[in-house]
Amino acid sequence: MKKKEKNFWQDLKNQSQPILVLAPMAGFTDSTFRQICSAYGADVVYSEMASATALFYNQENDDNETLRLLRWDREKESHYVVQLFGSNPEHFALAARLVNEKIKPHGLDINFGCPVGKVLKQGAGADLMRNLKQARAVIEAVLDNSKSPVSIKIRAKSGDVSALEFMKNISDLPVSALMIHGRSLNQGFMGAVDFSLVAAIRPYFQGTILINGGVVDLKTAQEALTLSGADGLALARGALARPWLFQEIKEGREIIYDRSAISRLLYRHALSLVERRGESALVEWRKQACWYIQGLAGASHWRRRLVQVSTLTNLENILKDYGLND
Ligand SMILES: Cc1cc2nc3c(=O)[nH]c(=O)nc-3n(C[C@H](O)[C@H](O)[C@H](O)COP(=O)(O)O)c2cc1C
Repeated sequence: MKKKEKNFWQDLKNQSQPILVLAPMAGFTDSTFRQICSAYGADVVYSEMASATALFYNQENDDNETLRLLRWDREKESHYVVQLFGSNPEHFALAARLVNEKIKPHGLDINFGCPVGKVLKQGAGADLMRNLKQARAVIEAVLDNSKSPVSIKIRAKSGDVSALEFMKNISDLPVSALMIHGRSLNQGFMGAVDFSLVAAIRPYFQGTILINGGVVDLKTAQEALTLSGADGLALARGALARPWLFQEIKEGREIIYDRSAISRLLYRHALSLVERRGESALVEWRKQACWYIQGLAGASHWRRRLVQVSTLTNLENILKDYGLND
């Protein structure tokens, strides 16, 4: 087993405040969004899931698409964790070494929760969770090949395998952190989150435990922490709509974002993306913009215009029309 660099998960846990994490979200948690969430107080930010198999087959190419997806800004992002998905331990072993060497994140994570058909078909994501033997082999492969601490993300249940059974099966392995999405594979992304899992798993896992699912505001954040007793929270869709939720939880007070604050955020996000990747990246920005404006008066009118933005000038003009170009 490779000797691990400093275990930042343990350091964060020792600070005895809930650890606030931006959960991985394909198509959303790129460097720009991670920077925004870091600025609002996220302690740890996860990449979009990256294919271990794609890294394996493109290992000779230093600038392959998957490595490009994983690049980050050391100055502007807090602790950065790269999430890998796949099912083949050999692919994971190579991917762990490659990502450590080329990307140098603070941590590596393994996806055992993705419910998407084409991922399940490869025996990856939530399908790997229900294959205990293979799951263990994958975790061992990453532990053996990673210098940085290793975490895992699982669901409350996948098929017949519960989170508790899964954790018992790897209780002897030095995994540093666990993120539990407290919904089963059958539930998908909706329905009640099982907070009791954290206490049930504690006797079998010494690392940091994060609860995930359904946190959308200060009230649901406080409930999730109290009911679960977890060391921290992982925010997903709640952060897409309100990245300032990290600050709200840290400061324990509600923060109102009015139209002009949201329009500044929209612009800041667009500008940062254009600086990194050029105006063509604004096509991706549109779906994030729709999350930010949710709940604002006249949101459907805004949405119709924002989904057509293809240059910063377009956006400036829209904000000007709304009197929001300060
Ligand atoms: C658009 C989208 C993309 C996601 N991509 C990933 C991913 O790449 N890896 C992963 O482990 N989970 C992924 N998830 C799941 C989230 O990390 C999280 O577990 C789930 O949304 C439940 O949290 P929430 O109720 O706070 O949204 C994704 C979720 C959404 C909505």
